[in-house]
Amino acid sequence: MGRGRAHGGLTVTGFSDHGRDGGESPPTALFAAGDISRRIESLAGDIARAMGPEFVLLCVLNGAFIFTADLARALAARGCRPRIEFASFKSYGSATESSGRVRLVGEFPGNLSGERVLLVDDILDTGRTLLTARMMVEDAGAETVATCVLLDKPARREAPVEADYVGFAIDDVFVVGYGIDYAEKFRYLPDLAHISG
Ligand code: XMP
Repeated sequence: MGRGRAHGGLTVTGFSDHGRDGGESPPTALFAAGDISRRIESLAGDIARAMGPEFVLLCVLNGAFIFTADLARALAARGCRPRIEFASFKSYGSATESSGRVRLVGEFPGNLSGERVLLVDDILDTGRTLLTARMMVEDAGAETVATCVLLDKPARREAPVEADYVGFAIDDVFVVGYGIDYAEKFRYLPDLAHISG
């Protein structure tokens, strides 16, 4: 940390020109780590009130891994004891456009029957991933399914799905950082940033 790059009054912390491993423009700050943390505290309060102490927190990999970790700890501070499960879906390759297909990668948690599930994803974009994941949770016999996303791009929606809990609604920009990648780069950034081609 330390070396940052200033953009429009914010700094993308953890970003270094020397460590840049691609030819595209450097990321431009969208939400700083402190903004994200405050928003997660607020979301955790809402979720804890609605879900109670016992539920399954299902993290959609890979992009939601940092969000889920921070959300889980904020929920624990409010007395929640979620069982944490993971599922991986693929709709993006290394490009910034969706392939239009969503497929499960690896195993789906096998013990969701009768459970109250909170599905956690990084970005709600076209909605295909969240819709597919939600249908799989329902098919697995969950009692209820709630959905939580860090970022929502409502202008991009194609599938009939909305999230119950949204961190930030954003425009149609390509986001990196805080676990979210571009071609597997930039996941390490503590801030959320956007890149342009
Ligand atoms: P859909 O279109 O299925 O997409 O709602 C959800 C998944 O697509 C990825 N996604 C992004 N990944 N920057 C990324 O690195 C973005 O701006 C972006 N928009 C969507 C992401 O994996 C999300 O779970």
